[in-house]
Amino acid sequence: MARIAAGADHAGVQLKDVLVAHLRELGHDVADCGTWGLDRVDYPDFGEAVARKVAAGEAELGLCVCGTGIGIAMAANKVAGVRAATVHDVTSARLTRQHNDANVICLGERLVGAELAKDALDAFLAAAFEGGRHGPRVAKIDALLPGDRTRDETS
Ligand code: RB5
Repeated sequence: MARIAAGADHAGVQLKDVLVAHLRELGHDVADCGTWGLDRVDYPDFGEAVARKVAAGEAELGLCVCGTGIGIAMAANKVAGVRAATVHDVTSARLTRQHNDANVICLGERLVGAELAKDALDAFLAAAFEGGRHGPRVAKIDALLPGDRTRDETS
């Protein structure tokens, strides 16, 4: 069983709550970072909250939901060490773990039904990074820094 951080904005909270309940039924330890109601909030705040837990090692994996799953992924991906992937299908959910070593799955409540979202989440959790030829590629992703800076410019 995994420790999973979950977060959503107002446009994703209902799907997030369904998925958090699903994860807990499966026995996972979920840190729910909110939001917890339908009041309008800003998705970057929740993408960041999930990403920081994953980056700090407080959660092995993250789950983010907004209206499309896109904006919250953009925010989460600003945190070093986080590889957040927006998925709309089971195959993408599996492949982004196997090939990209994604550690945050992002879903869009306005685009994906709850049953498909559960199946995609299950596929994401069941898959493992394949390493091999994918290892150096993922390392190149992690070597990129926000703001188009290079490592040399920051040293
Ligand atoms: C909120 O209206 C919506 O813009 C947000 O949930 C998300 O879809 C952004 O990417």
